[in-house]
Amino acid sequence: MIHRKSPADIVLMMEGGRLVACILRKVQEVVTPGTATSEIERIAENEARSFGVVPAFKGYMGYPSSICVSINNEVVHGIPSDQRILSEGDIVGLDFGAYYKGFYTDAAVTLPVGTISKKATRLMEVTKESLLRGIGAATEGRRVGDISHSVQSCAEENGYSVVKSFVGHGIGRSLHEEPQVPNFGEPHWGAKLKEGMTLAIEPMVNEGTDSVEVLDDGWTAVTADGGLSAHFEHTVAVTVDGPLVLTTDEEP
Ligand code: MF3
Ligand code: CO
Repeated sequence: MIHRKSPADIVLMMEGGRLVACILRKVQEVVTPGTATSEIERIAENEARSFGVVPAFKGYMGYPSSICVSINNEVVHGIPSDQRILSEGDIVGLDFGAYYKGFYTDAAVTLPVGTISKKATRLMEVTKESLLRGIGAATEGRRVGDISHSVQSCAEENGYSVVKSFVGHGIGRSLHEEPQVPNFGEPHWGAKLKEGMTLAIEPMVNEGTDSVEVLDDGWTAVTADGGLSAHFEHTVAVTVDGPLVLTTDEEP
């Protein structure tokens, strides 16, 4: 069943989403060569504490950290570690979810570490554009498949593949709610989008094959061919006035 949120619920999710955006912005300050990914975790936890938000991922299905840090060929769910150091030319995905005033919000960005290659830049840009296309399709009366198809066609038209084994999701009083929001699919297919639906739209886009493997840590998903992967995510509300991005610290 799909849980639609009231305007008052969406105001609360917008407050939480703004804090998620602030936390992601803050951790970006240390995304430089030489930073251990555990430092990113430390800052995310401190910021979350100072804002009064509960990190959503730590302890979820046994995930050990508050933020996912996924470098280069890592698709999602990278675990921060003292041993893992950012290097010039890397791209790094940062995924953070928060629980605040009864609701979850979830967002991710992929960032450059120092100067990066043209091909890495293009992958990041196209992935971000895929997210924006998906958000643009999140309007009342359309269907989940319209979001999925918009994301997929943007990525594939640019020569990339979309990951199929992880999907976006409804979000609200739980981190993962119905409906699933795949990054691939047919237009006009799936659940109808209605006012009050809140969705985490999260394209994971690969340079090469779409197939992924999970490392022995039980979490880190990597591309099967070692190619680069990028990930962007926003929590979005379907409203009568169109899609409303909740995980932003910018004024509407
Ligand atoms: N953005 C991802 C999701 O919504 C991150 C989940 S990490 C986990 O599924 F540890 F919480 F699983
Ligand atoms: Co998510």
